[in-house]
Amino acid sequence: MLNFIHNIPTKLYFGKGQICHLAESLMQYGKRVLLAYGGGSIKRMGLYDEVMEILNGHDFIVTELSGIAPNPRLSSVAEGQRLCRENGIDVILAVGGGSTIDCAKAIAAAAFYEGDLWEMVQNAQGQYKTLPVVDILTLSATGSEFDIFGVISNPDTNEKLGGMYCHPAVSICDPTYTFSVPAYQTAAGSADIMSHTFENYFSRESDSDLSEGICESILRSVMVNCPIAIREPDNYAARANLMACSSVACAGIPAYGKEDTGWPCHAMEHELSAYYDITHGVGLAILTPRWMRHILKKDPSVTPRFVRFARNVMGLDDDDDRILARAGIDALEEYFKSTGIPMRLSELDIGTEHFEQMAAHANPDNFLSEAFVPLTNEDIVEIFRACL
Ligand code: NZQ
Ligand code: ZN
Repeated sequence: MLNFIHNIPTKLYFGKGQICHLAESLMQYGKRVLLAYGGGSIKRMGLYDEVMEILNGHDFIVTELSGIAPNPRLSSVAEGQRLCRENGIDVILAVGGGSTIDCAKAIAAAAFYEGDLWEMVQNAQGQYKTLPVVDILTLSATGSEFDIFGVISNPDTNEKLGGMYCHPAVSICDPTYTFSVPAYQTAAGSADIMSHTFENYFSRESDSDLSEGICESILRSVMVNCPIAIREPDNYAARANLMACSSVACAGIPAYGKEDTGWPCHAMEHELSAYYDITHGVGLAILTPRWMRHILKKDPSVTPRFVRFARNVMGLDDDDDRILARAGIDALEEYFKSTGIPMRLSELDIGTEHFEQMAAHANPDNFLSEAFVPLTNEDIVEIFRACL
């Protein structure tokens, strides 16, 4: 079991009605609030009115930044920077999914940053001074509510870069705010939670019983609760379990004691959404079974890990390890299919034309040579092709 550091300074209020802590959470930082949100889902679900009532009732001075897009763009960060500076903002309140929270984190750094904003994104390693970010989560997926990361896209250069900005100071995670998440986003978000877990689970280091158990438990819980949430959108227990899994899966907790794996599926997926602006979780669901088959074939020494996955997560058994390993991957692919999301790139009108460039982008300085099973650019192109 390897050394690890636990440093998650976010105060997380989890459960129904926790918005009662909103005013006190903001007040500690000041009265001038930048309210950041996406394309309008918070208005349709009534959360915008609820938030404004609290803010107006406590005399906060509110500036709004709306229209933050899925795969949030640099232009929204620039707009947020301007608003923060012009209005002397004390604290950013992000209400929405991962895109809104990620954008708020980058704005929090941009508020103090002098210089080119894309360079800020390219170099974000957690070194920037930031405004405090408080968020109200409305979609269980990325874990942005409990981690330091933000992912920002630059459509001019077809780049989408993850960086470290700041942990939210406070995250309000009320599962009832996810009742309105459509089936497609519920399935995609759940695939994202699973992928964050896979990116830690498929590691050479296998003596960290705690993280092994956490990973397997998250994976099983998501596969039970996602279909329930799709069938019964207002099933509290299902939504609550997905939300709790979302926060834990990307917070580094499933990685305790384990080797860094390079997060290969995320490296590849960020290229798909950078070039084609697709939903992150859908790209991951398409890539994951193909990546698994590719590495199992390339390096059969990882068979025991896939056998453990097939047994402990997918509930399968077979006397022949090679058959069992492959059956676990097939079952995972069937599960993703059953949630109704596309399972081929061709369904998203993605062809082969940029695969070489995307592979090179996904693997700067050959960093995936350190992955669970090392990947070359040629491997990545092959995986993309298998997804067609
Ligand atoms: O824009 P609005 O109107 O809010 O609608 C959103 C959006 O269309 C909608 N939505 C959110 N909550 C809803 C809702 N619709 C109805 N009811 C609700 N309660 O869902 C759509 C997708 O929202 P988005 O925020 O884009 O989804 P998600 O949370 O999956 O975030 C995806 C972004 O996060 C990045 C991804 O790459 C992508 O850019 N990631 C961030 C990570 C992090 N910070 O640690 C890690 C992840 O691996 C990921 O890369
Ligand atoms: Zn992800």
